[in-house]
Order: sequence, then structure tokens, then C-alpha cells
Amino acid sequence: VTKKYMEFEGIRVPGGVHSVESLTWAWKEFEVRDDDVFNVTYPKSGTTWLQEILSLIYSNGDPTPVKTQYSWDRVPWIEQYSGRRQIENRPSPRLITTHLPIHIFPQSYYKSKAKIIYTVRNPKDVCVSLYHFSLVAQFMESREDFQDFITLFLSNDVMFGRWFEHVKGWLTIKDNPNFLLLSYDSMVKDLRSSVAKICKFLGKDLSDAAIDSVVEHSSFKAMKDNNMSNYSAVPNDIFNKQHGTFHRKGISGDHKNYFTPAQEEEFNEIYKECMKDIDLAFI
Ligand code: PPS
Repeated sequence: VTKKYMEFEGIRVPGGVHSVESLTWAWKEFEVRDDDVFNVTYPKSGTTWLQEILSLIYSNGDPTPVKTQYSWDRVPWIEQYSGRRQIENRPSPRLITTHLPIHIFPQSYYKSKAKIIYTVRNPKDVCVSLYHFSLVAQFMESREDFQDFITLFLSNDVMFGRWFEHVKGWLTIKDNPNFLLLSYDSMVKDLRSSVAKICKFLGKDLSDAAIDSVVEHSSFKAMKDNNMSNYSAVPNDIFNKQHGTFHRKGISGDHKNYFTPAQEEEFNEIYKECMKDIDLAFI
């Protein structure tokens, strides 16, 4: 497995599943349809969770699709090699995942009525989750020492760019009526309300029983046990399962178990500086 990141428009992405062609196609050529739904995230912020929730909403709560098809086939990443083949001719409504920062997101989106759900998570928890994942995912830059990983996380050398710029970029379109900002942390607190909010945003009128089913099948436990969404099918040379599982803890506030008070204070200072004009409280 190549550990090398490739660079595209100032952003690093894992070289194994991306290419200049795939990124250029997604950015410049892909034709967005009005009924496309985008699941947009910074890594480790709820991507897989939204893939499951969206699949379940569009099956009206029927768990068959999430139990028979891989998450990455149901709601594929547009920027990856396989994106074009998977997405271009798929019947509507297409459910599409991306980690792209806004400056290289499909340009044709701006002429469309497509919907975007952007899920944001406490960056200190993202850092902890990514720290663990980078030891599992063999294509990622990793650091054994957590302080070293924080330094990496705060640098431009992370995949998909820094958390701060990713979030700030996407929040520039937050007032667009076809944009929904979700928080991983409030989903942890009250998943049902978040699912109801997503349904309303998408204009999907699900019965209470169907919503219950979405919630049941997208719980942390259900997803951890679902081989179609827990990445257990990925070979060990890509995801080294000796170092952990994809579904690790699924909680809010795990940073308290990893950051020392001094590390947290330093991180908060950087947060305050980078996010000073942004109305988003994560510290
Ligand atoms: S990735 O690699 O970017 O696609 O990862 P992503 O799916 O965005 O984030 C992985 C983290 O999300 C947690 N997760 C969940 N939390 C709560 N409930 C559900 N159903 C759920 N599914 C995934 C997963 O455990 C990772 O977080 P950590 O903190 O590492 O446990």
C-alpha cells in the first residue's frame, strides 16, 4: 500500500484511490443534478454514519440495502477513481459522499438545486479519531506519539487540508437553503431529532415507524456489527485490524481522555485564532 499522498490544488489526498483525472473530473466535468444529495464531511466527522442514515431514509427505513450493499457503493465518494463509474449514470436520486474542500467541489453544483449536508464534529475529537485511524489505515501518515499527531493535525500535511479551512470554506454557503449543517455531537445526543431534521431538509416524509427503523439501524452498535458498513471487508494490508477497528468509540468528548490540559489550552488558542469570525462553538 502506498503511504504517499498526492497533491491537487494545494490539498493532499491519499494517492491510492485518487488521481489527477478523478479529482479534475469531479471538480470540472461532473454534472450535478437537481435531485443529487451530497454527504460532505471532513474525515472522521460522521461520513459513514451519514452514508447509513441517507441509505435508510431513501429505503423508507427498510434495512435491506444497508445489509446487502457496501456503504461505499451505496453512497460513493465522487473524488475517488471509481466515482465516475459509480455515479455518472446512476438513476436519481443519487447519494454522493465527498471529503473535498469547497474550492474543488463540483462546479456545476452552483447551477443546480442539489442538496448538501455538511456534518461537523468537535475538531479535538476528530484529531483523536484520526490519530487512531491513521494507525489502522496503512495509506495514511501516522505518528505513534499523540503530541506529534496533534502537530501533524494542525499542519497543512493532513489529507483534505486542515480542519479549520475545510469547515470555514463550507460555512461560506451556510445560508443557502439547500445546505444543512449538522453536528456529529448533537447526533450523538439525540439521533432521532437529527434524523427527523434530515428528513425534513430532504423533503422525505417518513412515518414514525420508518424513522424508528432508521435510528435503530444507524446506531453505533448496529453499524459496528454491520459488515457492509464497518470496513471489515477491507484487506489487512490497507486496514491493519491489529491496530483497531473502524468503529472505535463513537462518542462525543473523547478528547478529554487524550489531550493534557496544556495540549487542550494550546489547541483552543489556535481554534480561537482560526475561527474568530465563525459562529461555531467547539471549545
Ligand atoms: S471516514 O474515514 O472519514 O469515513 O470516517 P467517518 O465515518 O467520518 O468517522 C468515523 C468516526 O465516526 C464514528 N461513527 C459513529 N459514531 C456514532 N454513531 C455511529 N453510528 C457511528 N458510525 C461511525 C466512528 O466510530 C469514528 O469515530 P471514533 O471517535 O474514532 O469512534
